[in-house]
Amino acid sequence: MTCFKTLKCTRHLSVYARFFNSLNSSTCCLQHGKRLSSSASSDDNKVMQYLQARIKTTGPITVAEYMKTVLTSADAGYYMHRDVFGSKGDFITSPEISQMFGEMLGVWCVNEWHNLYPGQPLQVVELGPGRGTLSQDLMRVFCQFADMKDKVSFHLVEISPALSQMQSQLLTDNTKPTDLSDSGQGTDGQSLGPYRQGTTKYGPPISWYRALEDVPKGISFFVGHEFLDALPVHKFQRTEKGWCEVLVDLKSYENTGDKKTPFQFVLSPGRTPATTFLKVSDGDSRDHIEVCPEAGKSVQEVAKRIQQQGGFGLFIDYGHTGQKGDTFRAFKQHELHDPLVEPGAADLTADVDFAYLKQCVEGVSTFGPITQQEFLVNMGIGVRLQMLLQRAKQEDWKSLVTGYDMLTNPTKMGERFKFMALMNPSLPDYVPAGFHTPDFLKTTST
Ligand SMILES: C[S@@+](CC[C@H](N)C(=O)[O-])C[C@H]1O[C@@H](n2cnc3c(N)ncnc32)[C@H](O)[C@@H]1O
Repeated sequence: MTCFKTLKCTRHLSVYARFFNSLNSSTCCLQHGKRLSSSASSDDNKVMQYLQARIKTTGPITVAEYMKTVLTSADAGYYMHRDVFGSKGDFITSPEISQMFGEMLGVWCVNEWHNLYPGQPLQVVELGPGRGTLSQDLMRVFCQFADMKDKVSFHLVEISPALSQMQSQLLTDNTKPTDLSDSGQGTDGQSLGPYRQGTTKYGPPISWYRALEDVPKGISFFVGHEFLDALPVHKFQRTEKGWCEVLVDLKSYENTGDKKTPFQFVLSPGRTPATTFLKVSDGDSRDHIEVCPEAGKSVQEVAKRIQQQGGFGLFIDYGHTGQKGDTFRAFKQHELHDPLVEPGAADLTADVDFAYLKQCVEGVSTFGPITQQEFLVNMGIGVRLQMLLQRAKQEDWKSLVTGYDMLTNPTKMGERFKFMALMNPSLPDYVPAGFHTPDFLKTTST
């Protein structure tokens, strides 16, 4: 075991050395941001009208149905037709804050590939890639490794036509990806295959899919950053009658004084079909619990593929391990917003319950969740910052240091965001990079 750890840390160090030494040309992209502007769509009230008609016709709907409709309905869902990220959008994510975030994930992947699957083809499968910034930073890292560059292919799972277009523009440059619409469908009636394909400006091929199930099988690095928190949650509340589901209903006539929204939360009279997902352990004193079966299904599919085909996965999100209960909320222009007001014009989100996700998977080893600060520091983000500062112009120092602070400071994103890894269990004592402090960092800190 000791011998194995030494070997692992040495490899880890050598990946760092090769990566950091070869990256001088990559300091040009100091801070992400920019691109398409975000504006509230004129389709916002289409979502509102649909929801009102739906509830009028069939009665109150679950929070999960409300969330799914608002975020991803084909006509007018929040994500479907515009750029929602960055300073002009509603929220900013870690890959958009600094290139160092994606670089640390890239180094992690290279390290795991070298350790576990050297020389073998690797699919990089990103779930919910947003603007495509993380995939771009990963590509830049992989291209520094001659033995890896020709082995990787990119597979983006993106439901939004607008965001997938933006990803194509960013990642394929002037090469024209081929739109397959629905013609890429398989004949087995299950796997639909890619809806777009092309070649990235860095060389590796790239394909887009609507669902993870459509991605081909193969050794894969799965990565989901702020993907699971966008999936629909069911909300439950403890009452004197037992656990009831929180539903979204239309306001009654007497209760229409507040004109901001026609919707209100109500409680189901008793159990609902989704109650089967609710598992409350003895001693759990929470009054509210949120369950996200779609997140459970996604990690199950990732775990099954890692177990059967090989690979590893990282899920990164704000979350908890079964302590929090009432986290469903909305963000508009970087401010908290009432989730029932202006549906379709604000992001809806809920903290990820990593304890629930761990219960959902079998056949893989899970690591974490650990904090973003722990992971990034273990991966050597401090060393990377120093190197970038040495090579950057003085006017860029501030943005580099600010980005580092934002990502790692416990009072900013360092503590709230968590990393969880899924690994093929073929090496029983194996601990992936980032989930332990490597010896070279222990030495430099003493
Ligand atoms: C909160 S954003 C995160 C974007 C990016 N990963 C980042 O961190 O900047 C969520 C992303 O997941 C996508 N998404 C949401 N629901 C999805 C679904 N059911 N299937 C595929 N993609 C989905 C959205 O379109 C968007 O790209």
